[in-house]
Formats: sequence, C-alpha cells, structure tokens
Amino acid sequence: MNTPLPAPDSPKDALVSFVRDAFKNRFSNVDPDFVSIAPGRVNIIGEHVDYNNGIVMPAAIERWTLAAIRTRPDSIIRIHDVQFNLEAQFDAKEEVKPDTLSWLNYIKGVVAGFIRRGHPVPGFDAVLYSSIPHGAGLSSSAALEAVFALVANKLTGAGLEPLELALLCQQAEHVFAGVPCGLMDQMAVIRCEEGHLLEFDCRDHSVEQIPFTDPNLTIMIIDSKVKHELAGGEYAKRRRSCDLATCILGFSSLRDVPIDDLPRLLSHLDNTLTKRTRHVVTEIERTRKAALLLKAGDFPGLGQLLNESHASLKDDYEVSCEEIDAIVATAQTLPGVYGCRMTGGGFGGSAIALVRKSEAKEIASRIQETIQLKYHFKPEIFTTVPTNGACIV
Ligand code: GLA
Repeated sequence: MNTPLPAPDSPKDALVSFVRDAFKNRFSNVDPDFVSIAPGRVNIIGEHVDYNNGIVMPAAIERWTLAAIRTRPDSIIRIHDVQFNLEAQFDAKEEVKPDTLSWLNYIKGVVAGFIRRGHPVPGFDAVLYSSIPHGAGLSSSAALEAVFALVANKLTGAGLEPLELALLCQQAEHVFAGVPCGLMDQMAVIRCEEGHLLEFDCRDHSVEQIPFTDPNLTIMIIDSKVKHELAGGEYAKRRRSCDLATCILGFSSLRDVPIDDLPRLLSHLDNTLTKRTRHVVTEIERTRKAALLLKAGDFPGLGQLLNESHASLKDDYEVSCEEIDAIVATAQTLPGVYGCRMTGGGFGGSAIALVRKSEAKEIASRIQETIQLKYHFKPEIFTTVPTNGACIV
C-alpha cells in the first residue's frame, strides 16, 4: 500500500500523479475530484520591508505543496498528510478554532476566513504532500494556506480575487499560527508567474511581472537546514521596532521616510532603532534599483545589491545567523556568483544566489565542501527557474 515518496526535485506533473494515487490508496480506490497546488517562494530582494509598506521581489520556485480533494456529503474536513503519515479532521459546521496541531492551523485558519466572510465551507477529504523544505524560509506555510484557499474558493463558489485570497491567508497566519507576517509570501505563492519575478508594492498592492528568462542566469537556493522560529518572538520584535521608529519620526510607515534625509532623521532614534530603520529604508531603495537593473540585464549590478542587502540584514537588521553568513561569504567569493544573501525571515533558513548557469554545479559543490569542513553539515542546494503561482488541476 505504501508508495515511496517522490524525490524532492520531482516535476509538478509527477507530484500531481503522486497525490492522486496516494488519495486512491487512502480512500478506498476512489479518484479525487481535483488537485490544488501551490509553489514555495524565494525572495530575490526586498527583505523585511513588506510590513513597512515596501517593495518586494519574490519568485515562485519549483517546489510545491499539493492536496488531492474529494467533496463529502457532510461538513467534515479530513486531511491525510502522506509525507508524515498524519491524519486529522474537524467539522466546518462547528466553530473553527486554533488547534494544538500546528500544521492543521494553517488549514483551519483559511477555512475560518471563508466562514467569517459568509462562505460556509463544505466537507471534503484531502491527501496532502509537499516538496517544499519545511522551515527553510521558502514559504511552505503560505503554500499550505494557498492550497486550501483555492480549495475553499472553488467549493464555496466565493469567487475571491487573488489579492483577497492572499489577505485571507495572511490573516490565517496571524490568527491561527500567531505569526504577524507581512503579505509577501501569500502574494508570491498566489500571484507569481512562470519566467518572471513579482515586483509587489506592499503599499498600494500593485504588481508588475518582471521577465527573468536569461538562459545563462539561474537562481540557486542554499538551504542551511538551520531552522528558524519566526513565531519565536524576534520577527514580532522587528515589527514593533519599525512601528516605534515610524511613530517617533512622525511618518505613517517607513516607506515614506525620504532616503536623502535619512542621516538627519536617524539622529532622533536610539542605536537599535537607527539600525532597523536604516535597513528598511535602504532595502526599499535597493529593491527599486534592482528592478531597473534586472530590466536592463545588468546582473553584476543586481548581484551587488544582493550582497549589500545581506550586509544590511546581518549588521543593521540582525536577522541572519553564523551558518548563513558563512554560506553567503563563501558564495560571494566564487567565480560565476553575481551575488548572494540570506532570504526570507532569517534566523537560519536559506540563502539565495544569482549564478551563471554553466557554473552552478561547481559553485554548489564548493559551498557544500566549505561549509561541511567548518560546520560538519552539508547545505541542501538546488537551482530553480521562476514558476507559476497556485492553481487547481
Ligand atoms: C517572512 C514573512 C514575510 C516577510 C519575510 C521577510 O517570510 O512571512 O511576510 O516579512 O519574512 O522579508
């Protein structure tokens, strides 16, 4: 009965077949009605600025979370996680409240969001699988939320637009997972398009799809396998510092702080708030420049911005860690690497490097060797092209 799990780099189609078969295995050989699928994301630049009304530039990656779904005649939502052999269920007719099972909370939070908006969610059976590494800063939780947001949107006929879905997922994360995240991850996993980076303006919610199709360039993701704990308090602390600095400076968000006036404005803040504010304001500027350089095909210039972003996250925002710093420092010295920095919330997780495709293999082995020698573990490294956001198949 137990089919072997697919390799982490399996293509999307193979994963869709896998969850369909796993559904039949689990539920008496009955076919699912459909499969909902959402990618992970990697942020190229624009880190810790989404909750400051900033600009971010993520891409969806070739790692996915999938759920094979079949409706039920009642209101029970039953989820079987085939990867970890877990199963849980709840009744969508009763009050949907946060659970002790953290993975189930993302699903419950989404279902509760639809119910709160007046769209009761009917019962269904689901078989769940994910090839997105967990805790790697690649938005496995946003992907899980998006998968079930699409399921609920389809089953309820609510017809919520992508932005509304992203906001609903963000709310699920705030209320049910206790993480006060910005909107980047949910927008990325829902709105990204194949062959493009998503330039998302978190102030007015506008998006621009920026082509990223140069065959000589590739996105390398280096998973340190050091786990971060966003809910652990540091993320929320950073948000509070930004709110405090905004308030002291008298702006409505750090997005509005004029970079030319930064030295004068920073003199009103203490050392910690100075550093946090300087990161946010300069990172927004870097992201703006990055979009222009990318459009001009200036990869060395873009890479330089990634390197500067890392220095700012490490020294001013203080959200990196020793292992990631070592990975980034190693990568930055290698031929064929345009730039490298930590990506995502930080405190572990992954680094992203923009590299010349022809040298990607050599670069990956050099990073692994160096880190293995110093820290006695081997980072997981893969390359990806920007892929499509969540959909139903
Ligand atoms: C996490 C959050 C995002 C964003 C990043 C940092 O991934 O979920 O909203 O704040 O950290 O850029």
